[in-house]
Amino acid sequence: MGTLIQYLTVVSAIVLAVQSQPSFMEYIERRLAAFEDRISVWHDQTQRYSSEYREFKNQILGLVEGLDKEREEQRRNLEMANSRIERIEREMDYLETRNPVPTCVEMEDKLIEQSVEKAQEKKKPKHSKMIDCGEMISNIKAMKIVKKLETTSGLWTKDLMSDSEKVYVFDGIGNDTVYEFARIRDFTDFSGLVKAKKIKLPYPWAGTGHMVYKGFLYYIRSEPQFQVIKFDLKNQTVTDSSMFPAEQQIPVYGLSPFNYVDLAADEDGLWAIYATKENEKHICLARLDPKTLDIEQMWDTPCPIDNAENSFVICGTLYVVYNTKLRSRSRIQCVYDVSDTVTTEQAPLVYFPKRYGTHSSIKYNPAEKYLYAWDDGYQIIYRLAMKKKSDL
Ligand SMILES: *[C@@H]1O[C@H](CO)[C@@H](O)[C@H](O)[C@H]1NC(C)=O
Ligand SMILES: *[C@@H]1O[C@H](CO)[C@@H](O)[C@H](O)[C@H]1NC(C)=O
Repeated sequence: MGTLIQYLTVVSAIVLAVQSQPSFMEYIERRLAAFEDRISVWHDQTQRYSSEYREFKNQILGLVEGLDKEREEQRRNLEMANSRIERIEREMDYLETRNPVPTCVEMEDKLIEQSVEKAQEKKKPKHSKMIDCGEMISNIKAMKIVKKLETTSGLWTKDLMSDSEKVYVFDGIGNDTVYEFARIRDFTDFSGLVKAKKIKLPYPWAGTGHMVYKGFLYYIRSEPQFQVIKFDLKNQTVTDSSMFPAEQQIPVYGLSPFNYVDLAADEDGLWAIYATKENEKHICLARLDPKTLDIEQMWDTPCPIDNAENSFVICGTLYVVYNTKLRSRSRIQCVYDVSDTVTTEQAPLVYFPKRYGTHSSIKYNPAEKYLYAWDDGYQIIYRLAMKKKSDL
């Protein structure tokens, strides 16, 4: 019943509406116009919103980009400030050793004299030492900046297995001339390389992985292939050369990418530190025969190439020095002992005394227990404290 009444009401309303058609149409039109108005307002609004949104987004993006740029610039500024602080520190250290108070001069002389004495006193027992070489680094006892050259990367070294006081300088990462000084004072007491005798090599050297050992210069040649050249310093002739047998070599230290092969001497003999594509994440070690330059044995070490700046060998143990891309203090962070006595976990984490740049070369002198290092143009001697491997 009720629905019928409703139905009748609706029908009568429609009839009425149709009867008063003009006002109904007006009504519809008004409504539609209102709708259209609102739609157009919405349209305007959405357009405004969307353009506002787009503008906002662009602003934000611009802001973020600006922040990124600013951050990058801040980082660069920080890095620059960092390296400036490092340089100032080094300058101060260097000036200190250049203009020492009298007691320091004495100490300095003593250090050098001691090294001579030590080298001489070690001369006889050297052989017996070779047989039971069982020492490892416990710490870096002292450092001394002895000179500063313009060239950022290079190598300076003494003969690593003789009593000779001569000093050899490879100024840079590739050339055909080596500078020889009669004694360390000729190198340190005069500016630049003025007191040097020039030795011109038959083929240019590459990198900073070279070595002077028992009167011979062993150096790396990279073109046309990697070769180790053995050069007699007495009569200045090449006595031997060998093709480095590793294939597809890659830089062996992430932070000193100019080195593909690095030669080292320890109490026991000669070593080559290198890397190949086959094992592109880790450093390889090989023992060389000093006479023939043949590789006697090879090891894949667990020491990563990434962030390595250099390395050296003491008593058959490879010590790899690491740093970070944003320079921090250099540290020995990976150790590989071919006799398996020492592991990285057991070895002390040795930090270099100061926060500097990157060591482009570090040569260990077994007779003196010194490291000869080149750090961002500064020539440095590090004195090592040793301990017995068996004390682990
Ligand atoms: C070696 O270095 C000297 C001095 O820096 C330079 O004049 C010369 O051209 C270099 N020679 C080679 C072969 O790179
Ligand atoms: C240079 O000396 C070595 C011995 O150390 C000798 O074998 C070689 O023949 C000499 N070379 C020349 C050109 O005199």
